[in-house]
Amino acid sequence: KSIVVLISGSGSNLQAIIDACSSGFIPGKVSAVISNKANAYGLVRANEAGISTQVLSHKNYASRDKYDLALTDAIEQHKPDLVILAGFMRILTPAFVQHFNGRLLNIHPSLLPKYQGLTTHQRAIDAGDSEHGCSVHFVTEQLDGGPVILQAKVPVFADDDAQSLAERVHEQEHRIYPLVVRWFCQNRLQQHSDQAWLDGNLL
Ligand code: GRF
Repeated sequence: KSIVVLISGSGSNLQAIIDACSSGFIPGKVSAVISNKANAYGLVRANEAGISTQVLSHKNYASRDKYDLALTDAIEQHKPDLVILAGFMRILTPAFVQHFNGRLLNIHPSLLPKYQGLTTHQRAIDAGDSEHGCSVHFVTEQLDGGPVILQAKVPVFADDDAQSLAERVHEQEHRIYPLVVRWFCQNRLQQHSDQAWLDGNLL
């Protein structure tokens, strides 16, 4: 299977997926990594793994619609079976989401539907939550609102700050994202409108 990964930053989830492809855990390969930021460290990771990279800066486009059309074209060059958002910090247009419907995944650092959007770790701390975590979901037009496939929980400790909590969540991200990508590449995972199915079971 051909996988295209979109990033904006560090790319630690990208790394986990690259590693899982190399080891054979994911029956697929990352065909390309595309970033909207030229200085994203994930681009270095991709280069080191011999994966083709492209920077597509939103600053060169007059509108979100035009950017997302160019992004769609750039992705389609690689004929992906699956498109993965891994810290891609852009809101996507409905046209983009529809184009890749059923083959577009995201990881979000909260136990969705809690804490959609940004600063999720601080919000979990501020709310006094005793548990927090991350979610892998299919992307739909609802921002951070598509059907959840898999979640991992972590405890929140009294002395946590946003950074210590983020690190604990990140470890779980690196575990569950490759697992979900493996399922997808094994043809076990499907999206039907607003539902996610694994091995014929509604999740
Ligand atoms: C992760 O926390 C992910 O949940 C969120 O963006 C962050 C990306 O981290 N969507 P990295 O670039 O994969 O290290």
